Amino acid sequence: MRRTQLSRSTRLLSIAAVAAVGAASLAACSDDKSDSGGGDKVGVILPDSASSARWETADRPLLEKAFKDAGVGYDIQNAGGDVNKFSTIADGMISSKVKVLMMVNLDSDSGAAVIKKATAAGIPVIDYDRLTLGGGANYYVSFDNVLVGTKIGEGLVKGMKANGKNNGPVVLLDGSPTDNNATLFSTGYKKAITDAGYTVAAQQAVKDWDNQQALTDFEQIFTKLGAGGIDGVAAANDGLAGSVASVLAKNNLTGKIPVTGQDATDEGLQRVLLGSQYVTIYKAIKKEADAASQLAIKIIKGDKAGADALATAKSDDTVTKKQVPSILLTPQPIYKENVKDVVADGFTTKDKICTTAELKAACAANGIN
Ligand code: BGC
Repeated sequence: MRRTQLSRSTRLLSIAAVAAVGAASLAACSDDKSDSGGGDKVGVILPDSASSARWETADRPLLEKAFKDAGVGYDIQNAGGDVNKFSTIADGMISSKVKVLMMVNLDSDSGAAVIKKATAAGIPVIDYDRLTLGGGANYYVSFDNVLVGTKIGEGLVKGMKANGKNNGPVVLLDGSPTDNNATLFSTGYKKAITDAGYTVAAQQAVKDWDNQQALTDFEQIFTKLGAGGIDGVAAANDGLAGSVASVLAKNNLTGKIPVTGQDATDEGLQRVLLGSQYVTIYKAIKKEADAASQLAIKIIKGDKAGADALATAKSDDTVTKKQVPSILLTPQPIYKENVKDVVADGFTTKDKICTTAELKAACAANGIN
């Protein structure tokens, strides 16, 4: 009897699990495109949904809200990490005559090809979050990405000092080698770490920001250097940090080797609360989405002077050697003590992060009520 009950509940569980997976993939499919209907439109191409949770959980809904609030039409699609799909989406948006194309490139070369086509069709382009090197977009909206890196590096140094480690060695786990942001982040944290007197034992760029690849990459580094050969790990985002944290956990080193991240994802914030990640970086995506939408509205209205007045910063395109008019926002480091700021800002909720007994206790201890 007991066995029958067990197997029945196991069966029910697995049916429920299959149903949940089915629902999730259906949701992911229907989510793939969001469209506001006719009229003047902004076309937005997001890069993927695997390299960071942010694109689908933060950027898409916040961009939708910004466009809706401003009464602007939109068509938001996700390239799913596929450069061919990226280019097909762009072709569709160009032929449907979007008024502005906003895009997060998958790499500069394929991104530049799209910008070229849009420009030839008279459609202005905003590089959103990632600058397309050699692309010549009209505007760029992002964060100060070297500063993001600096905050990562400073956070790591703080964590290592708290462990009584004053000169390293440190491992740098960089983002995708084809993402200009990854280069800027790395520049920022490498300088902060070495300026503070720490040595770098290994540096590895993770292809496509792939979390699985990060696991393999970090496992290899860990095997080579050993626990005694690593005092801290600068991981460039929360996805990569998750991979590092799982290798450290397997080796009973959680909390002994500080790990950094970026994006203030729910999982990243949970690790920060539990001490398996030392710091994450909060980039208020709402501000980024609002800035990009305001810029798009000026462009749609033909108000070039108005758009230029918003984009007062400059970013170096190291390929064209030109500067792209930019809006660059300021990132904020998040430690255990100020996870509450991210909740207060409405980026996530207590319910989403304080999910287990252990996390509920950590939330209460850190003022998340
Ligand atoms: C973004 C990060 C993100 C990473 C992976 C970068 O260009 O700035 O926020 O974690 O791409 O998607």
